[in-house]
Amino acid sequence: MPEDFEVPLEEGKIYLPDPEYRENAEFKDYTSAYREFLHDQDGFWHRIASELVWYEPWEHVKIWEYPFARWFEGAQLNITYNCLDRHVHDSRRNKVALFWRGENNRERIYTYEHLYKEVMRFANGLKKLGVGKGDTVCIYMPMVPEQVIAMLACARIGALHSVVFAGFGASALNQRINGAQAKVVVTADVSRRRGKTIPLKPTVEEALIDAPSVDYVVVLGTQETPVELVSDIEVDFHELMEDVAAVCEPEIMDAEDPLFILYTSGTTGAPKGIIHTCGGYMVGAYYTTRKIFNVTDNDIYWCTADPGWITGHTYVVYGPLLTGATIFLTELTPDYPDNGIYWKLIEEYGINIFYTAPTAIRMFMKVGEEWPARYDLTSLRILGSVGEPLNPEAFEWYYEHIGGNRCPILDTWWQTETGMHIITTLIGEPMKPGYAGKAIPGVVVDVVDKDGNSVPPGTGGFLVIKEPWPSMMRMVYQNEERYRKYWSTIKNCYTAGDLAVRDNDGYIMLLGRSDDLILVAGHNIGTAEVESALVSHKAVAEAAAIGKPNAIKGNIIKVFVTLVEGAHPSDRLTQELKYHVRQTLGPIAVPAELEYVDTLPKTRSGKIMRRVLKAQELGMDLGDISTLEE
Ligand code: WTA
Repeated sequence: MPEDFEVPLEEGKIYLPDPEYRENAEFKDYTSAYREFLHDQDGFWHRIASELVWYEPWEHVKIWEYPFARWFEGAQLNITYNCLDRHVHDSRRNKVALFWRGENNRERIYTYEHLYKEVMRFANGLKKLGVGKGDTVCIYMPMVPEQVIAMLACARIGALHSVVFAGFGASALNQRINGAQAKVVVTADVSRRRGKTIPLKPTVEEALIDAPSVDYVVVLGTQETPVELVSDIEVDFHELMEDVAAVCEPEIMDAEDPLFILYTSGTTGAPKGIIHTCGGYMVGAYYTTRKIFNVTDNDIYWCTADPGWITGHTYVVYGPLLTGATIFLTELTPDYPDNGIYWKLIEEYGINIFYTAPTAIRMFMKVGEEWPARYDLTSLRILGSVGEPLNPEAFEWYYEHIGGNRCPILDTWWQTETGMHIITTLIGEPMKPGYAGKAIPGVVVDVVDKDGNSVPPGTGGFLVIKEPWPSMMRMVYQNEERYRKYWSTIKNCYTAGDLAVRDNDGYIMLLGRSDDLILVAGHNIGTAEVESALVSHKAVAEAAAIGKPNAIKGNIIKVFVTLVEGAHPSDRLTQELKYHVRQTLGPIAVPAELEYVDTLPKTRSGKIMRRVLKAQELGMDLGDISTLEE
């Protein structure tokens, strides 16, 4: 871990939103809203939770037995009741819950009533396969409405979903299936990307070799030709929904029952199964969507994330449905059929809120503002960014060319582990490009040194969260030690693993990870995962992966490889190794650069010093290398 370091604070331009935004915002003034929260923290969350429907109220808002929190203890609920039934029973029955756009102008529209019925049928289908409360279902699907339906159907019956991004390869999928002991895997024949189809089912077949927990695989056919089911354990998605009862009553869940597992890259080899619970997660997702993003039920809301990531869980699926808004979902990428497609969709559907990632914004910048200029984007009211730091140039471009010098941009810092937004600039508050903002009302954040002491403005330090919050992860699946580590690395705090600095107004700038995670296009990739994929190839003796800064993606992966006796560097081997990573971990983890070396720098205890490789690569000072072996 680095010592504290000075960060030069440059006074950049400050953006002031139109006063009208503040008038319509949930929180009219940050300082007083935050003070009100601090004054009565439990009362704050009590009021928010009371806006949702519970079968039984809570006895306690929060019980904090460090490092374990229980929220809304005694309360009972089902999140899908709040996402669906509640709306169907009131005036939103015929309202559009979900617009979906596919390639070749295919469109599907679900009203709340229709989505509700589909979820119940699929839930009954899952029950038919023996899935019940507490079981885990792995969802490995493209961005189609059935992905959302499958997630909600699990929640309906109290089964945990473990969604795995469809860009992961067979061994990554196998690891996640086994890790969570999934009973059923839900998948599709193919996913579509830029006019091409990418088979998914063969990956699942490969992942199922040595996956003893799996009883059934449900396969969604998305093509003209029906999917071929090759074994008794394979079931057709739509057939499963036939001959089942139309109604599936929601399972009554305790607030602290688990809702889902979501794997995220770890700093050591295996990914971590982050567990979120029903009550607290629901409150966090609702609160931030409704009051931080100010989503109202008249809004068409487009978060471009894949539901395979936490951003998709909270802000594609649960958050917008909890607020009764309309979700826009698409399998289209921003550059196909052309670079104007996203702006065309915003114009066509009258999207009001658009939430994407810096890597996408930088790509939009590169292809040029003439693309958005062709479309009417005046329906947009609010913009969001997530996944990695939004650099000032990207902020300014986004503000001008997408937001029409009008829309507030919420640069939201948060994590799979936090479940909801933690830091941003509230709507109506002055925005500072490069700075995400401040802790939202509801959370207590600090920037500290390694002993946990707050550092002054201009001094970099570790970003920590000092109090529990409702949507915090409750556990790392089957790894209590790892869970405890989050709360013990720096005493009495949750250590996020990010470096940060505050300015004189308390605005926080995120400076990147302090650990061995690489953020590639906003996706967390563990160096250890890439390295172990490489060393599983017969030619590789050792490997070290680093993140190398890149103008579009934030970082790319560069690997340094030593070969076993008898193996020799060649372009052909490089291709083979990249292919090998693609096959095992998936396309998102393929190293952009690969360098053969004779030895890797190590500490005396044999740990690879990635920091040294990175410093060398970037031509920086080597820092303290006194513990280096040679
Ligand atoms: C990074 C994604 C800077 C950060 C929601 C964090 C960010 C990790 C931002 C979590 C942001 C996310 N500015 N960095 N606005 N948002 N990050 O679990 O390093 O996929 O720790 O959750 O992404 O990634 P995860």
